[in-house]
Amino acid sequence: MNICVFASGTGTNFKALILSEKRKKIKSSISLLITNNSYCGAVQTAVKYGIKYKVINRTLYPDIPETSYDKLFLSAVEEQSIDFILLAGYMKLLSSQLLKVFRNRIINIHPALLPSFGGKGMYGVNVHRAVIESGVKVSGITIHYADEKYDEGKIIFQKCCAVSNDDDEFSLMQKIRKLEHKYYPEIVKKFEEKKIIISKNKVIVN
Ligand code: GAR
Repeated sequence: MNICVFASGTGTNFKALILSEKRKKIKSSISLLITNNSYCGAVQTAVKYGIKYKVINRTLYPDIPETSYDKLFLSAVEEQSIDFILLAGYMKLLSSQLLKVFRNRIINIHPALLPSFGGKGMYGVNVHRAVIESGVKVSGITIHYADEKYDEGKIIFQKCCAVSNDDDEFSLMQKIRKLEHKYYPEIVKKFEEKKIIISKNKVIVN
């Protein structure tokens, strides 16, 4: 499979996916990065590992109509013969034309146990701060199909970890990142092996 990663931030998950390809833990090729932010860490990682990247941001295309802007995403992935899309800290809603063609071939990772602590504005350290402030005793990661809303779509996989009394948002973020870097590539492998099946509104991972 040819994979495209969408990322807007530091890009540690993007890097973990690249390393899992290099270490032959996954068979797919990470062939393209799409970002809305040309200055993000993920772009530096793409340059370092020689992966093509494309910056798609409304401010770069001020004069084209919305449907043409929306089409840019689909054109970019079709140009690289992409089979599968992984969101790794991508902070924008997805293009509707892309979602139509790639339905059930786009997955997202979220640094908490959805459906709690998700939605607009719930990304990165904001999520961990909300978790700590709520006083819950467990947090974790959720890997799910992406749809037209933030952090919704059928859940594929979750893993939890304890929130200790002395955790703050930064220590919790470190714990969660370790889980993300370990399990995101493992779920990609399950896709490669066709071990993920959608059954009504549940996802079964064999
Ligand atoms: C990750 O923790 C990812 O789960 C989160 O953004 C972070 C990106 O980190 N995604 C969301 O919050 C989606 N709502 P990274 O840039 O270091 O991979």
